[in-house]
Amino acid sequence: MTIPDIIIAIDGYSSTGKSSFAKLVASGFGFLYLDSGALYRGVTLFAQRMGLIGEDNVVSDALETALEGLDLHFSAEGKTCIGEDCVESEIRSMKVSSQVSPIAAVPYVRAFVDRKLHELASSGRVVMDGRDIGTTVFPNAQIKVFMTASLEVRARRRYDEMVAKGETPDLEQVAANLQERDYIDSHRSTSPLKQAADAFVLDNSQMSMGEELAWLRGVVQGKFGIYD
Ligand code: DC
Repeated sequence: MTIPDIIIAIDGYSSTGKSSFAKLVASGFGFLYLDSGALYRGVTLFAQRMGLIGEDNVVSDALETALEGLDLHFSAEGKTCIGEDCVESEIRSMKVSSQVSPIAAVPYVRAFVDRKLHELASSGRVVMDGRDIGTTVFPNAQIKVFMTASLEVRARRRYDEMVAKGETPDLEQVAANLQERDYIDSHRSTSPLKQAADAFVLDNSQMSMGEELAWLRGVVQGKFGIYD
C-alpha cells in the first residue's frame, strides 16, 4: 500500500500505548516518529536540574528565559537528548512523570514544544503522538487518532514497563499518577487533552499491536481510497 505524504496525529490518555503504536506506524509506513511527550519530559527534567520547580509544583518564571538556552533534541536513533547528554531513561522516571503535567500546562512551555515539533515535521511523512497534536499543533493533520483504554489496562502496562527497567513501582500509585495526569491534561486552560471532532477513536484495551496497525491501514485506505 502506497501511503501519501501525510501527517498522522495520535492523541489520547496516558499509557494508552500511543508511542509504541506510533513507532510501529512509523516503521510500517516509513514515516518519521516524533514523541511530543518526550519533549515535555525533557523540559521538566531540565527545570528540575535547574531547581526551577518549587513547592506544590510551582514553576519559577525564570524557566521562560532558561528555555532560550535549552538544546533539547532527538538523536539520530530517536533518543531524547539535552545537549550531549542522552536523557531517554531519566525522562521516564517517576520523578519526571510526577511533575511533567504541571510543566506541560505552562503556555510558554507549550509554545517552545510546538515550535520544535513544527521544525521537525516540516518535510511531512511524520507520525506524532501527544495530547493536543490533532487539536492544536497540527489541526490540519490528515489522519487523527484518539487512543483510549481502560485505567486497569493502562496502569498494568505502565507498571510492567517500569518493572522491566528495574524499578519497583506500586501498582496503585502508578494508577493514581495516570488518573492525576489525565485530569490535569484534560482540564488545563491551554490546549487541553480532548478528542478532535474528526479523530478516529481507537480503544486498544483488548487489541494486539498487529491489530492496531491493521486497523490504521484500514482507516488510511478508507480515507484516501487506496486499494493496492
Ligand atoms: O505521553 P507522555 O506520558 O510521555 O507525556 C508526558 C506528559 O506531557 C503528559 O502528562 C502530558 C504532557 N503532554 C502534553 O501536554 N501534550 C502533548 N502533546 C504531549 C504530552
